Amino acid sequence: MSEAAREPVRLERRGTVALVTLDRPERMNALSRAAVESIGRIGRELSKDPSVRACVLTGAGDKAFCAGADLKERQGMTREQVQEMLALYRSELGWLASSDFPTIAAINGVALGGGLELALTCDLRAATETALLGLPETGLAIIPGAGGTQRLPRLIGEARALDLILTGRRVAPQEALSFGLINLLVPSSEDLLEKTLTWLSPIANGAPIAQRAALRAVRATSSLTLEQGLAFELEQYELCLHSADREEALAAFAEKRKPKFSGR
Ligand code: COA
Repeated sequence: MSEAAREPVRLERRGTVALVTLDRPERMNALSRAAVESIGRIGRELSKDPSVRACVLTGAGDKAFCAGADLKERQGMTREQVQEMLALYRSELGWLASSDFPTIAAINGVALGGGLELALTCDLRAATETALLGLPETGLAIIPGAGGTQRLPRLIGEARALDLILTGRRVAPQEALSFGLINLLVPSSEDLLEKTLTWLSPIANGAPIAQRAALRAVRATSSLTLEQGLAFELEQYELCLHSADREEALAAFAEKRKPKFSGR
């Protein structure tokens, strides 16, 4: 199917996991305006579906997760249109960092510029051995504009982030793993998506109330002081305390069986 005839981003279900695929392999899955808007629409759809327990974001093909902004489209844009794109990154991609479920980037190839920023907006990252990660924007006389200057230092520290942002160098996944830029490295002989889904199965099958409470508590750390965070943790714990799933977990432990969570 030609690119014009298909959606730039696809949504499928793998059980309780939503699988979102950037589907512009001939453009290295670059973020056109239509692709960004499509991710936003998918986010709004998923936010209405309480059965979603996790969302995996990946790229079509074996070369690119996402090569960042669509530079061909960008070339024809006015300054005002570029400003609109920067606003769209926030409004359409932000759900990846604030949804009720964790979001996971499965990086199947290059993740450059906005592509890496997209992965950084997710909660967790898996990558294949052949992936390459980088923020080359300063080499293009701009700076990362989809959260990269803010999310990267929070994740890997200021000095490492400055190294990557000011030099624009590309990082192999082995190095990325060593400083926590990715969580899981999948050998190229193995299927990235299957390995990612296996890794996520405790989340997909876990107790939903506890999963959501833990996600909210950990995400809150970047905007709270330690004292505020400890108070927020207690509030979130309280939600689990009243759940039927907590009773079920204790009963299952006593009876030496696996718990069956109902989400209540
Ligand atoms: N926007 C639009 N098209 C892109 C693109 C992007 N960000 N990145 C790659 N493409 C297109 C190329 O133009 C090419 O199409 P063409 O043959 O019609 O010109 C096609 O994808 C394949 O790219 P190519 O460069 O031939 O493949 P490669 O394997 O040699 O290199 C990359 C792949 C991703 C390393 C290289 O294309 C690249 O550096 N892209 C720009 C990445 C970038 O700077 N992103 C940050 C933007 S702020």
